Amino acid sequence: MQLLSGSQVAEKKRLEIKIKVRQFAFDHGRPPGLAVVLVGDDPASQVYVKNKIKACSDTGIQSFHNQLPAKTTEEELLKLISKLNSQTDVDGILVQLPLPSHIDTNRVLSAIWPLKDADGLTPENLGLLMAGRPRVAPCTPRGVIEILNHYDIAIAGRHAVVVGRSQIVGRPMAQLLLLADATVTVVHSKTPNIRDFTKQGDIVVVAAGKPRFMGAEDFKKDSVVIDVGIHRRAEGLCGDVRTDELKGLVKAATPVPGGVGPMTITMLLENTLTLAQLSKA
Ligand SMILES: NC(=O)c1ccc[n+]([C@@H]2O[C@H](COP(=O)([O-])OP(=O)(O)OC[C@H]3O[C@@H](n4cnc5c(N)ncnc54)[C@H](OP(=O)(O)O)[C@@H]3O)[C@@H](O)[C@H]2O)c1
Repeated sequence: MQLLSGSQVAEKKRLEIKIKVRQFAFDHGRPPGLAVVLVGDDPASQVYVKNKIKACSDTGIQSFHNQLPAKTTEEELLKLISKLNSQTDVDGILVQLPLPSHIDTNRVLSAIWPLKDADGLTPENLGLLMAGRPRVAPCTPRGVIEILNHYDIAIAGRHAVVVGRSQIVGRPMAQLLLLADATVTVVHSKTPNIRDFTKQGDIVVVAAGKPRFMGAEDFKKDSVVIDVGIHRRAEGLCGDVRTDELKGLVKAATPVPGGVGPMTITMLLENTLTLAQLSKA
């Protein structure tokens, strides 16, 4: 079984991004800028935001960190988004999810100007993806496609099965696979006997959010398994897949950690660069 290292792909992509960021700064007198908005003090979100800010600094992208207290009202958050929408050195805005439950996530995401939508989650950008003309697509599924492309794993004509249909992973993943000419099946919590489907997948992307949920009996021989799940447990990080069971069965699989995770941040950097370039086009 080949291990598909997202860390390695991310390292290569980040070098390419760094060169383009330097060129952008040279051409326009400032680097691309990403505003990160974090509401509350969820420890996992704080780690994600810290990693995103560090990745920006490593590639030369300017980050603007906006930390708001958990009691921030929806109106206050919308006001900040509106300010960032008009700030000329901000090319991308990322609102770290999940937001506290008193805030309407869809309303907040919809308030981001689509040309500053670094996560590709505004209705306009999701609509463009659905229409087959993506501008910036959500980072995690984009990262999955980059991993498959990097390792020369054919997508066209293959049967891809996506486990999960969330707005940030499963749905855009299915669209990107369709755009790459796969035949796509999406399964979710109401699908009976999901194994009947996953066992048919040449490529199976697992994003169910359930620790070590799938294993050897769920995949066919020589399939490619992409594990999107990330779970923090006392023994360390794990994914949705029991990858340790897959040796000698599947052709390739992503590890956790070091698989899809590093690619998600890398695609955020690339989306920010793309939006910065579009703002100058
Ligand atoms: N690597 C990264 O950078 C990255 C980025 C984002 C997310 N993640 C991780 O990826 C995982 C998924 O994230 P998410 O945001 O998509 O999660 P989510 O919003 O909880 O969605 C999970 C999806 O899985 C489906 N599901 C749940 N139980 C299932 C079952 N028993 N059989 C089949 N489908 C089932 C759900 O179906 P219903 O729609 O029917 O409820 C839902 O569509 C999480 O572990 C998350 O931490 C990782």
